[in-house]
Amino acid sequence: MDKNKIIAAIIVIFIIALTFSENLSNNELSISSPNKTLKLNIYNENGLLSYSLDKNNKTIINPSLLGIETDQFKLISNLKISNIEKSSINQEWNQIWGEQKTIIDNHNEVKITLSSNDNNINMIVRFRLFNDGLGFRYEIPNSGEIKNYNIMDEITEFNFAQDSKSWWIPAYAYRRYEFLYANTLISEISRDKFSELVEYLHGDRIGPEAVQTPFTVQRDDGITIAIHEANLTNYSSMTLMADGTKNMKCDLIPWSDGIKVRVKNPLITPWRTIIVGDSPSELAMSTLTLNLNEPNKLKDTDWIKPGKYIGLWWEMIGTNQSTWGSGPNHGAKTDRVLEYIDFGSKYNFDGLLVEGWNTGWDENWCCTGEGESFGFYHPHPDFDHKKVSKYASEKGIRIVGHHETGTQIQNYESQMDSAFSYCQENGIRVVKTGYVNDGSQNIKRIDQDGNIHKEWHHGQYMVEHFRKVLETSAKYQVGIVVHEPIKDTGLRRTFPNMLSREGARGQEFNGFMPKDYNNKPNHTTIIPFTRLLSSPMDYTPGIFNLKDYRYHSPDNRTINTEHHIPSTIAKELALYVIIYAPVQMAADLPQNYEGHPAFQFILDVPVDWEKTHILNGEIGQYITTARKDINSDDWYLGSITNEDARDIEIKLSFLDPYKTYNATIYKDPSDGGWETKPEEIIIKELKGISYNQYYKIKLPKGGGQAIRFSPIN
Ligand code: NOJ
Ligand code: CA
Repeated sequence: MDKNKIIAAIIVIFIIALTFSENLSNNELSISSPNKTLKLNIYNENGLLSYSLDKNNKTIINPSLLGIETDQFKLISNLKISNIEKSSINQEWNQIWGEQKTIIDNHNEVKITLSSNDNNINMIVRFRLFNDGLGFRYEIPNSGEIKNYNIMDEITEFNFAQDSKSWWIPAYAYRRYEFLYANTLISEISRDKFSELVEYLHGDRIGPEAVQTPFTVQRDDGITIAIHEANLTNYSSMTLMADGTKNMKCDLIPWSDGIKVRVKNPLITPWRTIIVGDSPSELAMSTLTLNLNEPNKLKDTDWIKPGKYIGLWWEMIGTNQSTWGSGPNHGAKTDRVLEYIDFGSKYNFDGLLVEGWNTGWDENWCCTGEGESFGFYHPHPDFDHKKVSKYASEKGIRIVGHHETGTQIQNYESQMDSAFSYCQENGIRVVKTGYVNDGSQNIKRIDQDGNIHKEWHHGQYMVEHFRKVLETSAKYQVGIVVHEPIKDTGLRRTFPNMLSREGARGQEFNGFMPKDYNNKPNHTTIIPFTRLLSSPMDYTPGIFNLKDYRYHSPDNRTINTEHHIPSTIAKELALYVIIYAPVQMAADLPQNYEGHPAFQFILDVPVDWEKTHILNGEIGQYITTARKDINSDDWYLGSITNEDARDIEIKLSFLDPYKTYNATIYKDPSDGGWETKPEEIIIKELKGISYNQYYKIKLPKGGGQAIRFSPIN
C-alpha cells in the first residue's frame, strides 16, 4: 500500500449534520469540545450576535460581539439566524515535516447562517471547537448585486473574563515584530507603558493602541490563553485593540486610504483563534492553528528537505569584520565562500547561506525603503556564482540564497520569476528573504497612475505580496525562510515550502546591539509561549563566542567590549530543541566550531521530529522540551532559564519503556551562567537510563542544558 493509502486507511471521519430551521432556543446555543473541557456559547439577542467561552466550567471569555461592517452593507445589528448546522470531525493527518509527524484534528463545528433585516445578504459564522481552543470565521458566499466592497471594520471582540497578566509587543510601531515583550495586565496595555517598561517608542503615535498576535495571557488559576489567527489569506492582519480595560477588539491593519480589506468575492475571513491550555506548556503544544489551515496544495514535495545550514553572515551582523556591500571587507568573495563550502561539507551541513552575493548593497539599502534597487539574479563582480555552484555541488552542499528586498516590493515582484528560476538553475533550494524598513507606515506602493502610497508592513498589500513570493518560489522548487515577515498563521500546512520565518527579535540583536539593548536572558523563555505558537522561527542559535566577539568596525579590528551575549554555550545548544525550525542555522563562524567538543551536539541534533513533549514551563522563566527524532530512536532534550538559577526535576517517562539509553549531557558548570562563565561547558555521559527515572536539571543564571538520549538496545 502506498503512503497515502495507509494514511487514508487510518483516517476516521465522523460527521453528524443536523439542520434546524428555527432560531436558537432561548436565544442561546452551546457546544462542547470533544473532551468537554471547553464550552462555547452563542447568543442572538436584540438582533446582535455574540459568543462566550468557558474552560473547566469557568468563563474565560465573556459575551463578545461579532459582525462585519463594509462600505456597502453592515452585518452587525438586526441579525436573524436562519439556519444552524452541527458536525464533528475526528481525523489524523501527517505533516511533511514538523514538531510531530501525526496531528489529530478532533473538533465539533457549528455553522450559523444569518442575515440582517437591513439587507438581504447572508453571512455564515463557522465555529470549530477543539480540545485546545476555538476558531471561528465569517463567510459571505454571495453578496448579490454587490460585486465589489470593502471591509471598514471587523467587530469581533475578545472580552476576557479576568484582567490577567499578558505578554505582548505593540502593533503600529516601527520595528515590525522585532521587540522584546512587555508583561503587564491587559488593562495596562499602551505604547506609553511599553516605552516605560521595555523600549522607548519614538515617533508619532499613529494607529490605535493595539498589540500583535499571538497575544498570550495567563489567569490567576493558571489557565493560559492566546489570541491569534489561522490562514491569513486575502485579508489584512489582525491586531488587538486595547482600551484600558480587560476587553480587546479585532483591529485590522488598514491600507493607506483607511480601507481595512479590499474584498475578493466570495469573502472567507481568516480564522480568529482562542488557544487555551491549563498551563503554558499545554498551550504551547496546541495544534489548532495548523488544523485550521487547508491541506497541502503542492503536488510534489519530495524536494522539500529539512536541514541545517551555516552562513557567511555572522561576520557581518555579529563580529562586524565584513560588509554586505562592495569594498575591501566585502564578505561574499568567491574564495571566502569556497572556504565556507569546505567547512560545511566536511561536517555534512545541507546549506550555506551567502549574504551580500548580489548587487544593490552599496547605497543606503537600510532601512527606509529607498536606496539602490537590488538585483536578484545579478551576482556582485566579487562573487562567481557559476564557480561557487559547481564547487558546492561537487562537495554535496547547497547554497542558501538571499533576497533582501529593503521593502522595495515592486522592484522584487518585477524580478521574482527570473529570480527563483535563477535559483533553480544554480541548485538553490532554500532562499532567505528580507524586508528591512524601520519606518512605521513606510512601504512604498505605486499605483497604476504612478502615485506613491505608503503601506503598513502587516496590511493586505503585504499579506498578498508574501503570498505571491510563497507561490512563485514553490513553482521553482524553492523553500523560503522569511525575515521581517508577515506573522505565520499556519500556512506551512498548505505550502510546506514555507519553511521558517524570523518575525521576532532573533539572535541578530545579540550580534549588533550593545549589552544594555540586546535580548535579555528571559526572551527565549517568553517566545515559546508567544511568537512560537504560530510557527517555526529562524532564531539562528549556536553562538559559542559570546564575549569579546565584535570588532568596532571592519576597518578597526579592535574588540568592542560593549557587547556580551546574555547566553551560555549550553543554552545555545538547548535552543535547537526548544525553538523549532525545519531549517536550522549554526550561526557562529566556522573557526569557533572547529575542534570545539560542544559542536557535536549541533551536528547531531535533528530538524524533523516524530514527537514533541513540552515537559514544563512558566512564561518568562523557564521551559523544558523533549523531542524524538523522526529518523532514529534518539530523543533530545533542551531546558533553559531566564536570569534566575533554578533546579528542575523531570521524569524521563517520554522515553520508550522497552529501551535503555545512554545520555550525552551538555551543561553549564554549577558556578557558571551567562555573566560568569558563558563559554564553559561540561559534557558528560550517563549510561543505562530508563523511562522510569527522574533527572535533576541544574540551571545557572541565564543558562541551559541539552541532552541526547541514544538507545543501547
Ligand atoms: C535583517 C535580517 O534579519 C538579517 O538576518 C539580515 O542579515 C539583514 N536583514 C540583511 O538582509
Ligand atoms: Ca530581522
